[in-house]
Amino acid sequence: MQRDFAAVLEAWEGKGAFVGHDGPTGTWFFVAMHDDRLGPATGGTRMRIYADPSDGLEDATRLARGMSFKWAGIGLPFGGGKAVLAIPRPMEGEERLGLLKRFADVLNLLGGAFQTGEDLGTTPEDMAVLASHSPYVVGGGEGPNDPGPFTALGVFEGIRAALRSKEGTDSLTGRSVLIQGAGDVGAPLARMIARAGARVLIADLNAARAEQIAREVDGSLISADQVYDTPCDVYAPCAVGATLNADTIPRLACSVVAGSANNQLLVDADADRLHERGILYAPDYVVNGGGALAFGLMQRGVRDVAELNRRVEGIGSALDEIFHEAAEEGVTPAQASDRRVQRILEQGLAQQ
Ligand code: PHE
Repeated sequence: MQRDFAAVLEAWEGKGAFVGHDGPTGTWFFVAMHDDRLGPATGGTRMRIYADPSDGLEDATRLARGMSFKWAGIGLPFGGGKAVLAIPRPMEGEERLGLLKRFADVLNLLGGAFQTGEDLGTTPEDMAVLASHSPYVVGGGEGPNDPGPFTALGVFEGIRAALRSKEGTDSLTGRSVLIQGAGDVGAPLARMIARAGARVLIADLNAARAEQIAREVDGSLISADQVYDTPCDVYAPCAVGATLNADTIPRLACSVVAGSANNQLLVDADADRLHERGILYAPDYVVNGGGALAFGLMQRGVRDVAELNRRVEGIGSALDEIFHEAAEEGVTPAQASDRRVQRILEQGLAQQ
Protein backbone atom coordinates (compact mmCIF):
# COMPACT_ATOMS: atom_id res chain seq x y z
CA MET A 1 0.00 0.00 0.00
CA GLN A 2 1.40 3.38 -0.90
CA ARG A 3 1.57 5.94 1.91
CA ASP A 4 4.05 8.59 2.77
CA PHE A 5 6.66 7.98 5.43
CA ALA A 6 5.02 10.58 7.66
CA ALA A 7 1.80 8.55 7.88
CA VAL A 8 3.75 5.44 8.86
CA LEU A 9 5.68 7.24 11.60
CA GLU A 10 2.60 9.06 12.93
CA ALA A 11 0.92 5.69 13.51
CA TRP A 12 3.91 4.38 15.51
CA GLU A 13 4.89 5.04 19.10
CA GLY A 14 8.64 4.39 18.71
CA LYS A 15 11.52 6.74 19.46
CA GLY A 16 12.44 7.43 15.83
CA ALA A 17 13.84 6.14 12.60
CA PHE A 18 16.79 6.66 10.32
CA VAL A 19 15.90 6.81 6.63
CA GLY A 20 18.47 6.76 3.87
CA HIS A 21 18.58 6.04 0.16
CA ASP A 22 21.44 4.11 -1.37
CA GLY A 23 22.03 5.72 -4.78
CA PRO A 24 24.18 3.01 -6.40
CA THR A 25 21.58 0.23 -5.88
CA GLY A 26 18.33 2.16 -5.35
CA THR A 27 17.89 0.51 -1.93
CA TRP A 28 16.11 2.26 0.93
CA PHE A 29 17.76 1.98 4.36
CA PHE A 30 15.33 2.05 7.29
CA VAL A 31 16.48 1.74 10.89
CA ALA A 32 13.60 1.89 13.36
CA MET A 33 14.45 2.49 17.03
CA HIS A 34 11.41 1.71 19.15
CA ASP A 35 12.35 1.77 22.83
CA ASP A 36 15.67 2.19 24.63
CA ARG A 37 14.55 2.01 28.25
CA LEU A 38 16.26 -1.34 28.81
CA GLY A 39 19.28 -0.67 26.55
CA PRO A 40 20.36 0.35 23.04
CA ALA A 41 17.97 -0.50 20.20
CA THR A 42 19.03 -3.92 18.93
CA GLY A 43 17.54 -6.16 16.26
CA GLY A 44 18.12 -7.95 13.01
CA THR A 45 18.64 -6.52 9.53
CA ARG A 46 16.03 -7.70 7.05
CA MET A 47 16.65 -7.57 3.31
CA ARG A 48 13.58 -7.81 1.14
CA ILE A 49 11.80 -6.45 -1.92
CA TYR A 50 8.69 -4.41 -1.02
CA ALA A 51 5.94 -3.20 -3.32
CA ASP A 52 6.46 0.32 -1.97
CA PRO A 53 9.25 1.84 0.18
CA SER A 54 6.67 2.84 2.82
CA ASP A 55 5.91 -0.87 3.31
CA GLY A 56 9.58 -1.36 4.16
CA LEU A 57 9.47 1.45 6.71
CA GLU A 58 6.27 0.06 8.20
CA ASP A 59 7.80 -3.41 8.46
CA ALA A 60 10.82 -1.93 10.25
CA THR A 61 8.63 -0.06 12.75
CA ARG A 62 6.43 -3.08 13.52
CA LEU A 63 9.44 -5.38 13.82
CA ALA A 64 11.25 -2.91 16.09
CA ARG A 65 8.27 -2.92 18.46
CA GLY A 66 8.37 -6.72 18.43
CA MET A 67 12.05 -6.57 19.41
CA SER A 68 11.29 -4.31 22.41
CA PHE A 69 8.85 -6.97 23.61
CA LYS A 70 11.25 -9.80 22.79
CA TRP A 71 14.21 -8.38 24.76
CA ALA A 72 12.01 -7.54 27.73
CA GLY A 73 10.46 -11.01 27.65
CA ILE A 74 13.91 -12.63 27.46
CA GLY A 75 15.22 -10.37 30.22
CA LEU A 76 18.25 -8.96 28.40
CA PRO A 77 19.21 -5.27 28.61
CA PHE A 78 18.59 -4.29 25.01
CA GLY A 79 15.97 -2.06 23.42
CA GLY A 80 13.79 -2.71 20.40
CA GLY A 81 15.11 -1.89 16.96
CA LYS A 82 15.13 -3.30 13.47
CA ALA A 83 16.73 -2.45 10.15
CA VAL A 84 15.19 -3.01 6.75
CA LEU A 85 17.14 -2.86 3.51
CA ALA A 86 14.35 -2.48 0.97
CA ILE A 87 16.09 -3.69 -2.18
CA PRO A 88 14.61 -3.08 -5.65
CA ARG A 89 15.77 -6.50 -6.98
CA PRO A 90 17.77 -9.49 -5.68
CA MET A 91 21.28 -8.38 -4.65
CA GLU A 92 24.20 -10.71 -5.23
CA GLY A 93 27.98 -10.67 -5.48
CA GLU A 94 29.85 -7.37 -5.63
CA GLU A 95 26.66 -5.35 -5.65
CA ARG A 96 25.52 -6.95 -2.38
CA LEU A 97 28.95 -6.43 -0.85
CA GLY A 98 28.93 -2.73 -1.73
CA LEU A 99 25.43 -2.33 -0.32
CA LEU A 100 26.44 -4.00 2.95
CA LYS A 101 29.53 -1.81 3.29
CA ARG A 102 27.44 1.31 2.85
CA PHE A 103 24.95 -0.01 5.39
CA ALA A 104 27.87 -0.56 7.80
CA ASP A 105 28.61 3.18 7.34
CA VAL A 106 25.03 3.88 8.48
CA LEU A 107 25.56 1.71 11.58
CA ASN A 108 28.73 3.69 12.31
CA LEU A 109 26.90 6.97 11.78
CA LEU A 110 24.32 5.87 14.36
CA GLY A 111 27.27 5.22 16.67
CA GLY A 112 25.76 2.38 18.71
CA ALA A 113 22.23 3.74 19.05
CA PHE A 114 21.36 0.65 16.99
CA GLN A 115 23.11 -2.73 16.94
CA THR A 116 22.23 -5.53 14.58
CA GLY A 117 22.29 -9.21 13.64
CA GLU A 118 20.82 -11.58 11.07
CA ASP A 119 17.18 -11.60 10.00
CA LEU A 120 15.03 -12.72 7.08
CA GLY A 121 16.95 -12.23 3.82
CA THR A 122 20.39 -11.79 5.41
CA THR A 123 22.98 -14.47 6.18
CA PRO A 124 25.85 -15.13 8.61
CA GLU A 125 28.20 -14.15 5.74
CA ASP A 126 26.43 -10.79 5.41
CA MET A 127 26.89 -10.24 9.15
CA ALA A 128 30.61 -11.01 8.80
CA VAL A 129 30.84 -8.30 6.13
CA LEU A 130 29.07 -5.80 8.39
CA ALA A 131 31.25 -6.80 11.35
CA SER A 132 34.43 -6.16 9.41
CA HIS A 133 33.31 -2.57 8.81
CA SER A 134 31.40 -1.77 11.99
CA PRO A 135 31.58 -2.70 15.70
CA TYR A 136 27.78 -2.61 16.01
CA VAL A 137 27.09 -6.25 15.11
CA VAL A 138 25.94 -8.58 17.91
CA GLY A 139 27.27 -12.08 18.55
CA GLY A 140 29.13 -13.97 15.85
CA GLY A 141 32.90 -13.63 16.12
CA GLU A 142 34.45 -16.79 17.58
CA GLY A 143 31.22 -18.56 18.55
CA PRO A 144 28.29 -19.85 16.50
CA ASN A 145 27.49 -17.38 13.73
CA ASP A 146 24.00 -18.49 12.76
CA PRO A 147 21.02 -17.67 15.04
CA GLY A 148 18.68 -19.94 13.03
CA PRO A 149 19.32 -23.22 14.88
CA PHE A 150 18.90 -21.47 18.26
CA THR A 151 15.60 -19.99 17.13
CA ALA A 152 14.53 -23.43 15.90
CA LEU A 153 15.40 -24.99 19.28
CA GLY A 154 13.28 -22.39 21.08
CA VAL A 155 10.35 -23.03 18.72
CA PHE A 156 10.73 -26.78 19.23
CA GLU A 157 10.52 -26.35 23.02
CA GLY A 158 7.65 -23.90 22.51
CA ILE A 159 5.70 -26.45 20.48
CA ARG A 160 6.18 -28.99 23.26
CA ALA A 161 5.03 -26.49 25.89
CA ALA A 162 1.92 -25.71 23.86
CA LEU A 163 1.12 -29.41 23.47
CA ARG A 164 1.61 -29.92 27.23
CA SER A 165 -0.88 -27.19 27.91
CA LYS A 166 -3.38 -28.12 25.21
CA GLU A 167 -3.22 -31.91 25.08
CA GLY A 168 -1.71 -32.82 28.46
CA THR A 169 1.34 -34.46 26.87
CA ASP A 170 4.28 -33.06 24.95
CA SER A 171 5.07 -36.27 23.12
CA LEU A 172 5.48 -35.59 19.41
CA THR A 173 5.12 -39.21 18.39
CA GLY A 174 2.41 -39.59 15.81
CA ARG A 175 1.69 -35.84 15.59
CA SER A 176 1.95 -33.69 12.51
CA VAL A 177 3.64 -30.29 12.33
CA LEU A 178 3.15 -28.02 9.33
CA ILE A 179 6.18 -25.77 8.88
CA GLN A 180 5.64 -22.75 6.64
CA GLY A 181 9.08 -21.70 5.41
CA ALA A 182 12.07 -24.01 4.80
CA GLY A 183 14.73 -21.39 5.52
CA ASP A 184 17.24 -20.70 8.24
CA VAL A 185 14.77 -21.66 11.01
CA GLY A 186 12.27 -23.90 9.20
CA ALA A 187 14.91 -26.35 7.98
CA PRO A 188 16.58 -27.09 11.34
CA LEU A 189 13.14 -27.15 13.00
CA ALA A 190 11.96 -29.78 10.50
CA ARG A 191 14.93 -31.98 11.45
CA MET A 192 14.20 -31.66 15.19
CA ILE A 193 10.51 -32.40 14.71
CA ALA A 194 11.21 -35.48 12.59
CA ARG A 195 13.79 -36.75 15.07
CA ALA A 196 11.19 -36.45 17.85
CA GLY A 197 8.85 -38.74 15.94
CA ALA A 198 6.35 -36.33 14.37
CA ARG A 199 5.41 -36.07 10.72
CA VAL A 200 6.69 -32.94 8.99
CA LEU A 201 4.52 -31.14 6.44
CA ILE A 202 6.52 -28.38 4.81
CA ALA A 203 5.80 -25.48 2.46
CA ASP A 204 7.90 -22.69 0.99
CA LEU A 205 7.32 -20.13 -1.75
CA ASN A 206 10.49 -21.68 -3.15
CA ALA A 207 9.01 -25.17 -3.69
CA ALA A 208 12.39 -26.73 -4.53
CA ARG A 209 13.70 -25.73 -1.11
CA ALA A 210 10.69 -27.25 0.67
CA GLU A 211 10.94 -30.39 -1.44
CA GLN A 212 14.56 -30.89 -0.47
CA ILE A 213 13.73 -30.73 3.26
CA ALA A 214 10.63 -32.92 2.81
CA ARG A 215 12.79 -35.56 1.19
CA GLU A 216 15.48 -35.28 3.86
CA VAL A 217 13.07 -35.80 6.80
CA ASP A 218 10.69 -38.13 4.97
CA GLY A 219 7.92 -35.55 5.25
CA SER A 220 5.31 -34.20 2.84
CA LEU A 221 5.51 -31.20 0.57
CA ILE A 222 2.55 -28.82 0.92
CA SER A 223 1.94 -26.22 -1.74
CA ALA A 224 2.19 -22.64 -0.47
CA ASP A 225 -1.51 -21.95 -1.16
CA GLN A 226 -2.66 -25.01 0.83
CA VAL A 227 -0.98 -24.06 4.11
CA TYR A 228 -4.08 -22.70 5.88
CA ASP A 229 -6.40 -25.53 4.81
CA THR A 230 -4.23 -28.53 5.59
CA PRO A 231 -5.15 -30.48 8.74
CA CYS A 232 -2.26 -30.80 11.22
CA ASP A 233 -1.70 -30.75 14.99
CA VAL A 234 0.67 -27.78 14.96
CA TYR A 235 0.99 -24.94 12.48
CA ALA A 236 4.45 -23.36 12.67
CA PRO A 237 4.71 -20.11 10.68
CA CYS A 238 8.44 -19.68 10.01
CA ALA A 239 8.51 -17.12 7.21
CA VAL A 240 6.84 -13.73 6.80
CA GLY A 241 4.39 -12.17 9.30
CA ALA A 242 0.63 -11.46 9.33
CA THR A 243 -0.33 -14.99 8.30
CA LEU A 244 -2.87 -15.10 11.16
CA ASN A 245 -5.77 -12.91 10.13
CA ALA A 246 -9.54 -12.81 9.58
CA ASP A 247 -9.17 -14.67 6.29
CA THR A 248 -6.88 -17.51 7.43
CA ILE A 249 -7.98 -18.17 11.04
CA PRO A 250 -11.42 -19.59 10.15
CA ARG A 251 -9.71 -22.03 7.78
CA LEU A 252 -7.00 -23.35 10.13
CA ALA A 253 -7.33 -27.06 10.98
CA CYS A 254 -4.76 -27.28 13.79
CA SER A 255 -4.87 -27.12 17.59
CA VAL A 256 -1.66 -25.17 18.20
CA VAL A 257 0.10 -22.29 16.43
CA ALA A 258 3.78 -21.91 17.38
CA GLY A 259 6.43 -20.70 14.96
CA SER A 260 9.34 -18.37 14.41
CA ALA A 261 7.87 -15.67 12.17
CA ASN A 262 7.76 -12.18 13.66
CA ASN A 263 4.43 -10.33 13.89
CA GLN A 264 2.29 -13.36 13.11
CA LEU A 265 -0.98 -11.62 14.03
CA LEU A 266 -2.18 -9.07 11.49
CA VAL A 267 -4.04 -7.20 14.26
CA ASP A 268 -4.33 -7.76 18.03
CA ALA A 269 -7.92 -9.04 17.65
CA ASP A 270 -6.56 -12.06 15.77
CA ALA A 271 -5.40 -13.46 19.14
CA ASP A 272 -9.07 -13.45 20.24
CA ARG A 273 -10.13 -15.07 16.97
CA LEU A 274 -7.68 -17.94 17.57
CA HIS A 275 -8.83 -18.25 21.19
CA GLU A 276 -12.48 -18.45 20.14
CA ARG A 277 -11.63 -21.25 17.74
CA GLY A 278 -9.92 -23.17 20.55
CA ILE A 279 -6.49 -22.85 18.94
CA LEU A 280 -3.63 -22.28 21.39
CA TYR A 281 -1.32 -19.51 20.15
CA ALA A 282 2.25 -19.24 21.46
CA PRO A 283 3.01 -15.48 21.39
CA ASP A 284 5.48 -14.97 18.53
CA TYR A 285 8.05 -12.83 20.30
CA VAL A 286 8.32 -15.38 23.13
CA VAL A 287 8.49 -18.58 21.12
CA ASN A 288 10.84 -17.11 18.50
CA GLY A 289 13.27 -15.50 20.96
CA GLY A 290 15.93 -18.24 20.80
CA GLY A 291 18.24 -16.59 18.26
CA ALA A 292 18.04 -13.20 19.93
CA LEU A 293 18.59 -14.80 23.35
CA ALA A 294 21.66 -16.79 22.25
CA PHE A 295 23.20 -13.84 20.39
CA GLY A 296 22.39 -11.37 23.16
CA LEU A 297 24.06 -13.70 25.66
CA MET A 298 27.11 -14.10 23.41
CA GLN A 299 27.34 -10.33 23.21
CA ARG A 300 27.43 -10.32 27.00
CA GLY A 301 30.27 -12.86 27.09
CA VAL A 302 28.47 -16.22 27.36
CA ARG A 303 30.30 -18.47 24.89
CA ASP A 304 29.56 -21.99 26.09
CA VAL A 305 27.22 -23.58 23.54
CA ALA A 306 25.73 -26.04 26.05
CA GLU A 307 24.86 -23.10 28.31
CA LEU A 308 23.36 -21.16 25.36
CA ASN A 309 21.21 -24.17 24.44
CA ARG A 310 20.11 -24.60 28.04
CA ARG A 311 19.02 -20.96 28.21
CA VAL A 312 17.16 -21.24 24.89
CA GLU A 313 15.36 -24.37 26.10
CA GLY A 314 14.07 -22.21 28.96
CA ILE A 315 11.65 -20.70 26.41
CA GLY A 316 9.53 -23.82 27.02
CA SER A 317 9.16 -23.03 30.74
CA ALA A 318 8.48 -19.34 30.02
CA LEU A 319 5.59 -20.45 27.81
CA ASP A 320 4.33 -22.89 30.46
CA GLU A 321 3.99 -19.87 32.78
CA ILE A 322 2.30 -17.72 30.15
CA PHE A 323 -0.25 -20.43 29.24
CA HIS A 324 -0.91 -21.04 32.92
CA GLU A 325 -1.40 -17.36 33.71
CA ALA A 326 -3.65 -16.91 30.67
CA ALA A 327 -5.87 -19.79 31.77
CA GLU A 328 -6.00 -18.54 35.38
CA GLU A 329 -6.93 -15.01 34.38
CA GLY A 330 -9.20 -15.89 31.49
CA VAL A 331 -7.18 -13.93 28.93
CA THR A 332 -5.38 -14.99 25.76
CA PRO A 333 -1.70 -16.03 25.94
CA ALA A 334 -0.89 -12.94 23.87
CA GLN A 335 -2.54 -10.69 26.47
CA ALA A 336 -0.89 -12.48 29.39
CA SER A 337 2.51 -12.09 27.77
CA ASP A 338 1.99 -8.45 26.70
CA ARG A 339 1.04 -7.50 30.27
CA ARG A 340 4.15 -9.07 31.68
CA VAL A 341 6.35 -7.32 29.13
CA GLN A 342 4.71 -3.90 29.65
CA ARG A 343 5.42 -4.27 33.35
CA ILE A 344 9.10 -4.97 32.67
CA LEU A 345 9.37 -2.05 30.22
CA GLU A 346 7.87 0.29 32.81
CA GLN A 347 9.75 -0.96 35.87
CA GLY A 348 13.04 -2.19 34.38
CA LEU A 349 14.63 -5.62 34.51
CA ALA A 350 15.99 -5.37 38.07
CA GLN A 351 12.50 -5.27 39.60
CA GLN A 352 11.55 -8.67 38.21
N1 PHE B 1 16.51 -11.41 13.90
C1 PHE B 1 16.32 -11.89 15.23
C2 PHE B 1 14.84 -11.87 15.62
O1 PHE B 1 14.00 -11.39 14.91
C3 PHE B 1 16.99 -11.06 16.24
C4 PHE B 1 18.46 -11.10 16.33
C5 PHE B 1 19.04 -10.06 16.95
C6 PHE B 1 19.24 -12.11 15.84
C7 PHE B 1 20.38 -10.00 17.11
C8 PHE B 1 20.59 -12.08 15.99
C9 PHE B 1 21.17 -11.04 16.63
O2 PHE B 1 14.52 -12.33 16.67
